Amino acid sequence: MSQFSPRVFSGIKPSGDLTLGNYLGAIKRFVPLQKTHACIYCVVDLHAITVWQDPKDLKQATYEVAAAYLAAGVDPAQHIIFNQSQVLQHAELGWIFNCVARMGWMQRMTQFKDKAGKNAQNVSLGLFAYPSLMAADILLYKATHVPVGEDQKQHLELTRDIAQKFNNDFASSIRSNGFDENYFPMPEPVIAGPATRVLSLRDGAKKMSKSDASSMATIYMLDDGDAIAKKIKKAKSDPEPLPGEVDGLEGRLEAANLVGIYAALSDTSPQDVLDQFGGQGFGAFKPALAEVAVAQLAPIAEEMRRYLAQPDEIERILAEGAERASQIASETMKEVRDIVGFVS
Ligand code: AMP
Ligand code: TRP
Repeated sequence: MSQFSPRVFSGIKPSGDLTLGNYLGAIKRFVPLQKTHACIYCVVDLHAITVWQDPKDLKQATYEVAAAYLAAGVDPAQHIIFNQSQVLQHAELGWIFNCVARMGWMQRMTQFKDKAGKNAQNVSLGLFAYPSLMAADILLYKATHVPVGEDQKQHLELTRDIAQKFNNDFASSIRSNGFDENYFPMPEPVIAGPATRVLSLRDGAKKMSKSDASSMATIYMLDDGDAIAKKIKKAKSDPEPLPGEVDGLEGRLEAANLVGIYAALSDTSPQDVLDQFGGQGFGAFKPALAEVAVAQLAPIAEEMRRYLAQPDEIERILAEGAERASQIASETMKEVRDIVGFVS
C-alpha cells in the first residue's frame, strides 16, 4: 500500500477557446474520477502567460475554463476548482524545482521544441521552465493521478524525474525531519480512452489545438449546433468505406480520428463504432457523427453560457476553491521549507 491517498490533479491553460480535444482528452475524463478520488482541477493561468496573453482575454478565458469544468459536471462542493495564481505556493515550489531540474532535461521537452520552433532565443524564459511549474502543480498536492491528453506524457515523466531527484538530493534532510523517504509520490498519468489525441479536422498530421489558424480545423466547446455539423461535414476524410475491424484504420489518420471522436462522445470503443458503421462511407457516417456531437456538446455549451453570464458566481467558486487548495499547499510548503533548510 502506498502511503499516499489517491488524489487527482489536472489543469488547463486559459489561453484561447476550449476545443473538442480539451473536452475529450481531459475535461470529460475529469468527471468520473470524482467517484473514486479526491480531485483538484486547476485553471493554470501562470502557465498561460508563458506566451503573451492580453489581460482582458486572460480573464475571459479563465472564466471559460472554470465554466467548462462546472458545465461538464465537476462538483466544486465535493472537489476543488481554482485558478493557479491565487495559490502562491505554485510559484514558490516551481522555483525550488527550477533548482532541482537540469537544463538538459528541459531541452529534451518536445512541446517546448515545437512551440519555440526556430524562435528559441526569443521565447520567454517561463516557456522553457514551464514543465517544472507543472511538476510543482502536481506535487504541491502530492497528487497520485493526473488525467491528461497524450501530449502531456513527457511532462509527466519529467514530473517523476523531479520528484525522484528531490527525494534523493534531500534524502538525509527528509529523514532527519521525520518524513518518509519517498517524500513526493511518483504521479501516474491517466491517458486512456479512444480520444487521447484528437486531430485537426483539416490535417490528420496535426493535433486539434486552440491556436489553429483555421477555425474549420477545430470544434470549439462553445460552437453552436450548426457550426459543429458544418465542420464535421467538411472534415477531411477519404473515399473508402469504413472497415469492419480497427486494424483496417491503420494509415487512415482522418478516418481513425473521426471514429475515435464518435467512440469517445458516445462512451463506446472504436470497434463498437465499426460494428455499427463498417462498410458504410463518410456520406453516411458524418451525419451520424454530427448528431452525436451536437447531442453531447450542445447542453454543455448551454450550461457554460449560463455560468459565463454570472462571472461573480465563477469568481466566488474559484476563490473558495483557492482557499481550500491553499490549506493543502501551505502544509506541503511548510515541510518543503524545512527539508530545503530555509529558516522560517
Ligand atoms: P491545454 O489546452 O494545452 O492547456 O491542454 C489541456 C488538456 O487538454 C491537456 O490534458 C491536454 O493533453 C488536453 N488536450 C489538448 N488538446 C488535445 C487534443 N487535441 N487531443 C487530446 N487532448 C488534448
Ligand atoms: N501543461 C498542461 C497542458 O499544456 C497544462 C498543465 C499545467 C497541467 N499544469 C498541469 C496538466 C498539471 C496536468 C497537471 O496541457
